[in-house]
Parts: sequence; structure tokens; C-alpha cells
Amino acid sequence: MSKRNEFGDFQTPINLATKVVGSLSDRFGTPGLVIEPTCGMGNFIDAAFSRWGDKCLYSGSEINPEYCVSARQRFSETDRVSIMERDFFSTEWEEVFSACSAGYTLVLGNPPWITNSELGILKSSNLPDKANFQGLRGFDAKTGKANFDIAEWMIIRLVEALLDGGVLAMLCKTATARKVLTHFWKTGVPISEEGVFLIDAKKSFDVSVDACLLVVRAGGMTEQFASVYESLDATTAMSRFGILNGELVANIDDYERCREIDGFSNYKWRSGIKHDASKVMELHFREGGFVNGFGEKCQLESEYVYPLLKSSDVGNGRLVPRKYVIVTQQKVGEPTDTIKTKAPKTWKYLESHASILDARKSSIYKKRARFSIFGIGGYSFSEWKVSISGLYKRLRFEAVPPVDGKPMMVDDTCYFFPCETEGEAKFWAGLLNSEICLRFLHSLVFFDAKRPVNIDVLRRIDFAQLARKMGVFGQALVYLEKAGMYEGDQQPLLVFEDTPKYKTKNKPTD
Ligand SMILES: C[S@@+](CC[C@H](N)C(=O)[O-])C[C@H]1O[C@@H](n2cnc3c(N)ncnc32)[C@H](O)[C@@H]1O
Repeated sequence: MSKRNEFGDFQTPINLATKVVGSLSDRFGTPGLVIEPTCGMGNFIDAAFSRWGDKCLYSGSEINPEYCVSARQRFSETDRVSIMERDFFSTEWEEVFSACSAGYTLVLGNPPWITNSELGILKSSNLPDKANFQGLRGFDAKTGKANFDIAEWMIIRLVEALLDGGVLAMLCKTATARKVLTHFWKTGVPISEEGVFLIDAKKSFDVSVDACLLVVRAGGMTEQFASVYESLDATTAMSRFGILNGELVANIDDYERCREIDGFSNYKWRSGIKHDASKVMELHFREGGFVNGFGEKCQLESEYVYPLLKSSDVGNGRLVPRKYVIVTQQKVGEPTDTIKTKAPKTWKYLESHASILDARKSSIYKKRARFSIFGIGGYSFSEWKVSISGLYKRLRFEAVPPVDGKPMMVDDTCYFFPCETEGEAKFWAGLLNSEICLRFLHSLVFFDAKRPVNIDVLRRIDFAQLARKMGVFGQALVYLEKAGMYEGDQQPLLVFEDTPKYKTKNKPTD
């Protein structure tokens, strides 16, 4: 990891800082105090000073002593700017903000672009204490989740310390902005005038990530939604996201237009097969035989081998399997030692790769039958399925056919529900790909997320209502009556999307 990355250090180009300040000046007027909590070389303070000059006070903090020296030199000719060498995490921000005697406090900047797991690597690289991020022990307790952006924590901390009327404007990932706002909305932190102004992070920082200027005013009545602007100059919002009926909605106006189909899914959505050993369990069919991920020819009975579609197949509408998967169980928890007698070659193959299979890290494999898999049940063996990739921005449902009389499996980055017949699968795939259903999904899906489509979103499609809207309820009824035939719970740990819950001081947890 480069030193720049270790510090989440992406200095904001002065032209972007100038644009940000211009946009804030137009929106909120001249502040009384401008604070930059991780000011680096001071580009934001420079841009702010150029805009507002002696009309306000400026204070920058930074952990890197070299940056502090260069920032101090930069502002040596004015007594309006002070630069402190200090660590964000040991700073009493309430005290810093209380220095504002007139006008409003503007907390401005660009906090480090780094996650706490990347910081784990940083710690092991044995940097000098002072250059290390401090106060991290409280992070997990504060956010209640394992991996998160440090910026997320910093922004929450700053807004909680801001007095009513103060404004925070920070460059960050759009996903960070969303998480921070959701936290405020769900925990009832009073904020208002929430705005997300999209920026081109590739152009400014040479990083391919969806980024924005997050703007929040502390205090006021929160409406639990934020306006999204196409750029820093935009004056009219292109969309709004926020909380509706307790749920996060990506596009409130689109959602309102198709909310009739928001309900409970009649079919049970599942995630695909999980084995965590693709080089052993996934195979190609070449020159009349199976070849594993190590390029080894494998002697296997066909009984336990099934055609497999990966997310890239389902996401691109490619329904001819390029791979096969060894399915060691018909349902979770089933004994596997029967394979020994039923399919001795397969057992031998599994045993010869036991060093990999037995070493699978996830705790779900502990105390399970040897060579266990997950995401498997009666539903996996239905002849037909309707499936969607969880990773692709292009939302498209596919009717997945059997191959050579065998049901196709989908991997654990796909979601699906089982169907008995081709007619049923094609009927539902058609309805799910209808304009109204896709618009509904688009209104709920955040495309900057790692898995834009998740099971919580899919569960909200009311199939019966969708069929009614499309005028085919009569036909749908035939299928809906049997929709629950593959019931039975899937392991909850296969549902990847755990919403992070923050636990902040003085605030009720949700
Ligand atoms: C993304 S850069 C932004 C710099 C500056 N705000 C700008 O926009 O040009 C993040 C800055 O945070 C500083 N930083 C990282 N950890 C810090 C901490 N614990 N306390 C204070 N500053 C820190 C880094 O040294 C770096 O200068």
C-alpha cells in the first residue's frame, strides 16, 4: 500500500476546492468560522480565504507535520488563519466549534479515503505512532460493523459536535454520504438541507469511485430525504433519496409512481450456491472431461455435477453454462459420506483436495459434514428458475432452463426463485422485466453499492400486484397458488446485506 493510500491522502485540487467554496457561498452566504478538520496542504482554506478574505476566521487541523509546515507558510501573511498539528480523534470538536462568535460555522473538507480494514494493514506496517490513526478502538463500538470508511466515522462525529445552524460540507464517496445520512435519519440527529452534489472523482483524484460533496446543516427539522444534484453548479435536484415508511428509497419520486407493487414477494427469493473453493468445486468441460481451476483433469461421476451460471452469465443474459459445479448435498446439513459409496471417484477427488476444502475459513463450515456447501435445498433442484445477478447495474431477470435434463445452479452472487415449468419461469421473468417493475427496482437500488440488487429489495416486489397492474392476474393465479411449494428457510448467513447499525453516544440506537 502506498504512503498516500495509508493516510487516505488525496489532496483536493485547488480548482475543485474553489468550485466547492463558490457553491457553498451561493447557498449559505459568508460563514463566521471555517474549519478544516483534516486540512492537508490547505487547499480548501486557501479557496475559502480567497472567497471570504478577512470576513471570517479559518482554522485547519492536520496530523501530518510536513503538511502543517507548508500550510502555515502558505498563510503566513494573515492572522485570520491558524493551522494546528493535531489528531482528529483526540480533538474536542465541540470546543473547536465554540470559537465561532458571529455567523455560522462551516466545517469543510475532504476526510481520509480509507477503510478501517486498510488501516489494519497500516498498523502492521509499523508506522511511527504519531502518523498512525489514533482512537480506533472505539470505532467498531461506534459503527457496529467490521468495515467502514474512516470518513463515515469522522463526518458523524463532526455533525454531532456542530451547533444548530452550522454547515458541514465534505467530499466523500456517495456510499459514505448515504450511510451517514441514513444514520442521522434513523437515529433522529437533527439535520436539514441535506444535499449530495456529484463530483467526478476520476478527474479530480484519479480514483474510480462514485463521489460527491455531502452538505448538511446541523439542526432544524429533518425531512429524512436528501436532494441529489448532478454537479456542484446544479441548482435543481435530479432526484431525492431518503427514508419512506422506515425504509431507505433511492429515488423517492420514481418510487411514488410505482409504489403499488411494493409489498411482500409471493415467491421466496434465494441466493445461489456457496462453496468458497472455486478452484476445486467449479469445473470446465474440455475435450470430453472435467477440468478444475488448477487445470487438472478430474475423474468424476456425473451424479454430483451440475451446470452452473455465474453472476457474469446471468448479468449478461448468457444462459449456456460455461462451468459446472460439484453439488455435494441436496440440502444444508445433509451427511456427505454417502458420496463415498454412491460416487467413489467423486469422493476420491474431494479427498484429494481436502487440504483446501477443510481449510475454508468461513465459520459456516465448522462442525459441518466434510465438503459441505451452502445455499442448497429442494429449491436448487427445480427444473426452471428465475434469476438475477446481484452485482450488475443492468437489471435483468432471466428464465434459467435445465441443461441436458439437469437443473442449472446459480452462484452465490445471484438471486433466484424456483419454478416448476418453462411457462411459469418465462411468465414471471417477463413481468419482472416490465417497465413498471424495473422502475420500481431502480427507485430502491443504489447503484454505487457493491451488490446493487439485494434480497431485501427483491422481497418487496408484490408479484400478485404486479400481475394485476399488467392485466394478467388470472394467469398469475395458477402459479401463485403453488408459489410456496419449495418453502423452507435458507441459512440467514447467506443473506449478505446486513444493514450497519451505529451506536453513537447520546443517541438512541435503531
Ligand atoms: C483526503 S486528504 C485531504 C486533504 C485536504 N483536506 C484536501 O482536501 O486537500 C486527507 C487528509 O487527512 C489527513 N489525516 C489522516 N488522518 C488524520 C488524523 N487522524 N487527524 C488529522 N488529519 C488526518 C491526511 O494526512 C490527509 O492530509
